[in-house]
Amino acid sequence: MNKKKSSFSGQLGFVLAAAGSAVGVGNLWRFPYLAAKDGGGLFLVIYLALVLTFGFTLLASDIAIGRRTKESAIGAYTQMSPKWKFLGVLTFLVPVLIMTYYAVIGGWVTKYAVVYLTGQTAAAAQDNYFTSFITSPVSPVLFALLFMGVTAFIVYNGVEGGIERVSRCMMPILLVLVVVIAGYSLTLHHVDESGQMRTGMDGLLYYITPHFEELTFSRFLQILLDAMSQLFFSLSVSMGIMITYGSYVKPEVNLNKAVNQIEIFDTGVALLAGAMIIPAVFVFSGTDGMSAGPSLMFISLPKVFAAMGKAGTLVGLLFFVTTIFATLTSCISVLESITANCMEIFHTGRKKTVLVLTVIYLAASAVIALGYSIFYIEVKLPNGSVGQLLDIMDYISNSVMMPFIALLSSILIGWIVKPSWIAAEMELNGETFRRKKLYNVMIRYIMPVIMFILFLQSSGLLNKIAG
Ligand code: PFF
Repeated sequence: MNKKKSSFSGQLGFVLAAAGSAVGVGNLWRFPYLAAKDGGGLFLVIYLALVLTFGFTLLASDIAIGRRTKESAIGAYTQMSPKWKFLGVLTFLVPVLIMTYYAVIGGWVTKYAVVYLTGQTAAAAQDNYFTSFITSPVSPVLFALLFMGVTAFIVYNGVEGGIERVSRCMMPILLVLVVVIAGYSLTLHHVDESGQMRTGMDGLLYYITPHFEELTFSRFLQILLDAMSQLFFSLSVSMGIMITYGSYVKPEVNLNKAVNQIEIFDTGVALLAGAMIIPAVFVFSGTDGMSAGPSLMFISLPKVFAAMGKAGTLVGLLFFVTTIFATLTSCISVLESITANCMEIFHTGRKKTVLVLTVIYLAASAVIALGYSIFYIEVKLPNGSVGQLLDIMDYISNSVMMPFIALLSSILIGWIVKPSWIAAEMELNGETFRRKKLYNVMIRYIMPVIMFILFLQSSGLLNKIAG
């Protein structure tokens, strides 16, 4: 039925590529920011509980669907039930949208790596440095195009020769760098103007201690929702990416082990990123530096690096190189998923497909990169914030479409094709699907309800209903 399909060489290659997709700016920037905002250890405990239940269910589903159908989202959902092809199309649209802006963020990260490489540590710590960079009509476009070009080159070289090779090299280095920087963060100390001394260990304590002060029911719900949407984004689930990667996994690979390893890698890097960033920001800026949005990574951290003195330039460089690795391996998974779907729909070869997509996305990345200058717009999003082009793409794909897709796919798996369809794939080589009971309850009952609430909340409908 299928032509000779590309595949990962084996379990390790697959796990590193999937971890490469999962570990991205979500782990390095969004997770630490949410942990600091949402009660430290309290957020950590909730997040871990969600990883073991929701994360596991979503990841196992996507990967098993991919390996069993040997196709990407559109073909896979059509194979599961022809009437549900629309869900495949909807899922395919998520990476289509994400790809318009992911290389732009990759470009920002690359720019900052260059800044530290050339020793402009003090300049990058200036208040308006980031704003004047992204509002320039040239530099952010060039960096986005560069990042897009490198991504396309890797995907052009195929699954084993491109994606797996890059992931095998970058992911272990990334892990070492995160551990080294986190270790360094813990040794920091600083005396502020009021004569108060703060140490990295105090910062670590702030990070892992559960803060129950002012915990109301609605705040608890907010923390839960934050943790849940972080989980989706972080594991790259419900957007067809893990279906595509799953379709490249050889039958002999033990999916139970692979799913566990991907979860451990992704969550481990997120926890370490918190230990790397929170103590450093805490030492130099107290809890005030932990602000939202890109400002933590591109505004607060450069101030921290500058305050570190000479070592700051090196630490800044290592940090942004780590972030380039994380962002690049995620970006290639987004482009690969679009490529794989297009190859299946149009029956075209990889090289031609990648070339056409590259032209489209070079143009799209340039437009989004100009969203802070020439194409500046302000749109009020349903969650109350005001967004530019990049935020709008991010909001539609991550906040609205992903929970909706998870809701529909849990109904499809739980009630139409039945959980045993997934279990059969998890037990293909006689392995035991240890969390089978948990999986069945999650996919049939808990996921549909929670995803529905999450969808209502993130699309702004919940607020409307509540008046
Ligand atoms: N999982 C990545 C992260 O945590 O940063 C983000 C991501 C990767 C989102 C790939 C979307 C995507 F298609």
